[in-house]
Amino acid sequence: MRVTTRLVLAIWITALAVVAGFAYLQVSDERQRLRQELERRASLLGEGLQDGVEAALSRNSRPALERLLKRFGRPGQRLAVYDTKASLVALAPESFVPRPETASDVTAAITSGSVQQVFRQMSGRTFYVYVMPVPREEKPLGAVAVVLDASYLAEAEQAVWRENGIRFLVLGAILSLIALLVVRMSITGPMAKITRWTKAVRRGQHLEPMKLGDPSLFGPITREVSVLARSLQRARAAAEEEAALRLKGETLWTEERLKQFVKLRLGEAPLFVVSNREPVSHVWKDGRIVARRPASGLVTAMEPVMRACGGVWTAQASGDADRETTDAGGHLGVPADDPRYQVRRVWLSKEEEDGYYYGFANEGLWPLCHIVHTRPQFRPADWAQYRAVNERFAEAVLEEIQHTESPLVLIQDYHFALLPALIKAQRPDARTAIFWHIPWPNFEAFSICPWQEDLLRGMLGADLIGFHTQYYCNNFLETVERVVEARIDRENFSVNRGSHTTSVKPFPISVAPTFVDDPPKTSREELLAELGISAEFVGVGVERLDYTKGIPERFLAIGRLFERFPEYRERLVFVQLAAPSRSTIRRYQELEAEVETTVQMVNRAFQTRRWRPIVYLKGHHEHRDIWPFYRHADFCMVTSLHDGMNLVAKEFISVRDDEDGALILSQFAGASSELRDALLVNPYDIDGVADAIRAAVAMPPEERRARMARMRQTVREHNIYRWAGLLLNDLSRIPEEGTATLTATTPGRASDEEAA
Ligand code: F6P
Repeated sequence: MRVTTRLVLAIWITALAVVAGFAYLQVSDERQRLRQELERRASLLGEGLQDGVEAALSRNSRPALERLLKRFGRPGQRLAVYDTKASLVALAPESFVPRPETASDVTAAITSGSVQQVFRQMSGRTFYVYVMPVPREEKPLGAVAVVLDASYLAEAEQAVWRENGIRFLVLGAILSLIALLVVRMSITGPMAKITRWTKAVRRGQHLEPMKLGDPSLFGPITREVSVLARSLQRARAAAEEEAALRLKGETLWTEERLKQFVKLRLGEAPLFVVSNREPVSHVWKDGRIVARRPASGLVTAMEPVMRACGGVWTAQASGDADRETTDAGGHLGVPADDPRYQVRRVWLSKEEEDGYYYGFANEGLWPLCHIVHTRPQFRPADWAQYRAVNERFAEAVLEEIQHTESPLVLIQDYHFALLPALIKAQRPDARTAIFWHIPWPNFEAFSICPWQEDLLRGMLGADLIGFHTQYYCNNFLETVERVVEARIDRENFSVNRGSHTTSVKPFPISVAPTFVDDPPKTSREELLAELGISAEFVGVGVERLDYTKGIPERFLAIGRLFERFPEYRERLVFVQLAAPSRSTIRRYQELEAEVETTVQMVNRAFQTRRWRPIVYLKGHHEHRDIWPFYRHADFCMVTSLHDGMNLVAKEFISVRDDEDGALILSQFAGASSELRDALLVNPYDIDGVADAIRAAVAMPPEERRARMARMRQTVREHNIYRWAGLLLNDLSRIPEEGTATLTATTPGRASDEEAA
């Protein structure tokens, strides 16, 4: 039976039971009321007759009785007087023929001395018979019988049943209609929508995530179906991409290839990643917990790798709702709706974070490695916290890898220089790599760090050390040569200390080919309307507020552009997206103030009533929010004073599927050695940068497109899956410590083909 039929049937049965129950009660009440009324009428009549009947009976006067009865007689009521022997003495009307059974009622009334009431059927009608004894001086004289027509009682009952029958039909029909409508709107409608949506996905259409009205009812299934559909779309896209690549004979690294490669090399063993920054933090916002993806190049790069490879990513908890979203062991599955890897969160105290993260890592190592003329601060207390936190992370990682044989551990960045040696000391079988996401300065610059030797020894615990460029590798080897007792093998780019060898190699980091899975549909017009600007040319900058990014210098260059080329006034707008970062450090506070002052200065100098040169959007921006800026800008500015790689440049290129847009790139960013079609600038040269902006907007479209197409080809080929594949390939080929026969060969750079 169909569900709607079952529902309607249930409604009708329920309505019937309810209405019948109420009707029964109503009928009983009505019956009682009408009977009481009959009784009252009969007793009033009886009592009215009593004295007259008593007098006439005692005189034995039949004519007096007949007169009396006639006087009281009314249509519909019959009266009769009986003597003590229950013989009829008088009646009214004359046509009235009492039923023979009435005599026995009279006898009963006389002998009992009490009123007798009974319903009798006469000539097919119901009558109410009321017999009242008439005594004199307590001796029975006879009785009066009042007979009233009671047929209307049954009629009244029937009317009540009839009324309720109609009520039942109307109620049943209305309820059924409402139920059918509700079922249609809330169940069959959404189900049909889910079916249509799923069918479309099955046919290969790319759809927005499904949204249904009532999340309480269909939320879980919608989520599951959407996740399933996304997995299907991903699998289909991966298969199509693979097939296309095979046809073209290309050996491009894709998510699928990396997945297969890791399976081949690691089997079912998970990959272990450690970084300070977590891939997702949870924060309270308006009474709700929301997930945030931090503004971090490291996260942009490593997240797709972890999605492809699976494993455990240990990182510092940074959100105020992080505890609420992890299990007792500090783990959570990411992404939440379709977990592909685990995050292990480590909580630090304020003192630990202040000393290790803000202090040693970001006031010491960060300015030490970025040559931007900010003096590094080296405080013994910070160094102590840095060491302690490295030890705490080592404990967490050792806990995670305890059940894995020869685990692969990828340590990220300058926050964990000591971690490789700490892990190796406990787990010599672990193959560890540390990837340094920032520049490595020359020996002289590095040598000002009082703990340079400890840092180098910590790093050299790794089997593999990766930098973005060969230049940083060279700097590092030179630093090691000068500071640590070790043998440098320049031919194989490795450092040998005792029986341990550390390979030092460049792995230029990159981004995934897709910046966001489901980009918003915002058009350029909509974007500009949202910002309240109208302009012929739009430039964009996307950065953390960091003094290495050259943001004030960039704004000065924009000012210089309008000064030297006034024809661009009111025609060009530059939008800066700036995420506050490390805000407790004084230098960063100063920078924030400097950036704001520079924006105001440039805007004040050139703005008109309907235009201002710089739109400054300070705050956290999710990838989906950034996408329209990248996609619709005429040019993107990445003018860092010094930068390890800079992934904003590559993100911008990856989003430009229209193969348009110009990139202005600092020659001091690692990305500049790969992206030769960018307009390379010296960010300190304000006039030079202004010229580059002019060149970007004045460039012939064909040239702009040709440059972008070549840069897209580079980013497409040198993507993050290739980066991870090559790094993991090198790391997984490193023999376990102690397997002497294999250590003779230092792993060389595998070609893409070899790795794949
Ligand atoms: O480049 C080093 C790095 O750690 C990057 O991963 C990232 O872009 C940036 O610094 C983030 O800094 P933080 O994690 O301190 O916000």
